[in-house]
Amino acid sequence: MIRSRSLTCRMKSPWILLSLGLLLPTPSAEGVAKPNFVLMMVDDLGIGDLGCYGNTTLKTPHIDKLAQDGVKLTQHLAASPLCTPSRAAFLTGRYPIRSGMAGHGRLGVYIISAASGGLRQQELTFARILKEQGYSTALIGKWHLGLNCEHSTDHCHHPKAHGFDHFYGITMTNLRDCQPGHGSVLYNIRAHLPYGTLGAALATLFVLHAAGTISISWRRALGLVALLIVPLAAFGLFVLTFPSLNCFLMRGDEVVEQPYVSENLTQRMTNEAVEFLERSSDRPFLLFFSFLQVHTALFASPRFRSRSRHGLYGDAVIEVDWSVGQIMKTLERLKLVENTMVYLTSDQGPHLEEISVHGEVHRGHNGIYKAGKSTNWEGGIRVPGILHWPGQIPAGKVIDEPTSNMDLFPSVLKLAGANIPSDRQIDGRDLMPLLQGRVERSEHEFLFHYCNAHLNAVRWHPKNSTSVWKAFFFTPNFYPKNGTACFHTHACFCTEAYVTRHDPPLLYDLSRDPSENSPLTPATEPNFSSIVEVMVEVARVHTQGIQPVVDQLSPGHLVWKPWLQPCCSSLSQLCQCERDHQKGSLDFEVDEMDTRRKDYEI
Ligand SMILES: *[C@@H]1O[C@H](CO)[C@@H](O)[C@H](O)[C@H]1NC(C)=O
Ligand SMILES: *[C@@H]1O[C@H](CO)[C@@H](O)[C@H](O)[C@H]1NC(C)=O
Ligand SMILES: *[C@@H]1O[C@H](CO)[C@@H](O)[C@H](O)[C@H]1NC(C)=O
Ligand SMILES: *[C@@H]1O[C@H](CO)[C@@H](O)[C@H](O)[C@H]1NC(C)=O
Ligand SMILES: *[C@@H]1O[C@H](CO)[C@@H](O)[C@H](O)[C@H]1NC(C)=O
Repeated sequence: MIRSRSLTCRMKSPWILLSLGLLLPTPSAEGVAKPNFVLMMVDDLGIGDLGCYGNTTLKTPHIDKLAQDGVKLTQHLAASPLCTPSRAAFLTGRYPIRSGMAGHGRLGVYIISAASGGLRQQELTFARILKEQGYSTALIGKWHLGLNCEHSTDHCHHPKAHGFDHFYGITMTNLRDCQPGHGSVLYNIRAHLPYGTLGAALATLFVLHAAGTISISWRRALGLVALLIVPLAAFGLFVLTFPSLNCFLMRGDEVVEQPYVSENLTQRMTNEAVEFLERSSDRPFLLFFSFLQVHTALFASPRFRSRSRHGLYGDAVIEVDWSVGQIMKTLERLKLVENTMVYLTSDQGPHLEEISVHGEVHRGHNGIYKAGKSTNWEGGIRVPGILHWPGQIPAGKVIDEPTSNMDLFPSVLKLAGANIPSDRQIDGRDLMPLLQGRVERSEHEFLFHYCNAHLNAVRWHPKNSTSVWKAFFFTPNFYPKNGTACFHTHACFCTEAYVTRHDPPLLYDLSRDPSENSPLTPATEPNFSSIVEVMVEVARVHTQGIQPVVDQLSPGHLVWKPWLQPCCSSLSQLCQCERDHQKGSLDFEVDEMDTRRKDYEI
């Protein structure tokens, strides 16, 4: 509909209209061309890291250009301040609690590739629905939503099982352990030592089992013994093998590099994305480019190192920006810009606790917003949100209404001509009316902010007011208490021992106090009690409406299960291999990259 309207407006004669019609990609049932989608998600990127969101010391010209020629959302919210749940929500358009992708314990994400949790088959991703609509679909980069259920090749949670025809990337997250010399995520999760010990016991058994020393039927009995006798030695072994067991690169169903080499990895992913665009230019496509950066362990290709003023972190941001530039250049070359919606976001705010083993700051910047990743203060959930689609989405528009990463689900479905599933609650809202200025107000009168499975805060943008109320039922305890980060645990936890409850809730008006500096009181806000009353009641009704599902982040779904472990060589070779044949074929010309060097100079 939209497409044909704009074409008719711009066409000078019926003859051109006719000839263009013949060139347009596969029309849908109504004779309207299906648009393409390039959705880009940067890991842990802070809203304050980008030039277009006010950073003056880190240059991101290609991302800024997207914002300049498109819409910039300034109140775009991740559905969760942690990777796994935020990504589950993005792909399904639903609060992660609805899909079981929100944990009840301290750990809210997968850190072990051979765990059995993941996004269930019952969940519908936009990729799966678009595939049914004839789209060519690809995920390049990070998944972090599980891999196997019962054995090491069932791939029940693999991107392919969720509608991505093509996958090149990692099923886990990029961990510190994935790069030599960057420390270990295991040192940072001492609080999870019980899991570590259990993992260690299982590691021992895995080795014994693989070496033929024990048979499967003994597994459980021996587990107990091992748990008592060798946990410490085994824990050492576990830490030692952790990188190869968890840092592997897959192409489709096959492990092609284990552990992966980080150097040049952003370039390899970019290359892969460009090739996918070239291959798919004649049919509607969906590319989800999910950058491994700027999550630790940080990396940047030699050409980008020491280019920024902000150490390796800044270099990694610059390389991501360069990559975005390559994607846009490819769309231009293939003449696809006018029929492709491009989106760029981050899965949550910057990880403030990230200081490298050498003491270098490896975290992003969240501008004026408080705290970061793993909290529901604005710094944890307010992320960049840029949408670009010349002719359909106005250029240079800034929208301050509350929007969510879950909104992409219904927006993409609608544009692709698919029906929104009616057998389940979808929490996202179609963004197009807001982006195109057909409405002024976001449909999100209320948004619910979860810390894992715990309802942490409610946001209310009343229909008749400019206020954006935010009520916290609890807030994380910061250590040291003078800071806004949970340094002692590496991430803030949501469980009782780590939070302070608030009754009445802690109330802010983000329209007047976006940095969440001064909670309101009945003395400073005459309507305090009536506002809080509305929000508490809405939270109660919302909570009541949540259907119980299997918790995919329960301890049993988080621990290492040796029989689920992908291993691309024999165990004696420590599961190591290097067979990514595409690796050598980086197409980017050195000259071109050097001449672009000035783009990033301050
Ligand atoms: C990364 O790319 C550079 C050229 O840009 C090359 O010299 C270097 O060997 C590559 N590194 C790896 C590990 O492939
Ligand atoms: C720009 O981003 C860098 C990296 O996160 C940060 O250290 C710096 O403070 C930011 N600068 C401004 C002016 O926002
Ligand atoms: C706005 O609407 C709410 C009910 O949704 C009502 O309680 C409140 O009084 C209204 N405020 C104004 C300023 O009209
Ligand atoms: C917090 O207080 C400690 C001393 O108690 C001090 O060393 C540290 O620098 C302070 N941190 C901040 C962010 O102010
Ligand atoms: C707040 O108070 C004003 C009067 O002071 C009233 O008109 C308005 O309806 C109240 N708003 C809410 C949200 O209760």
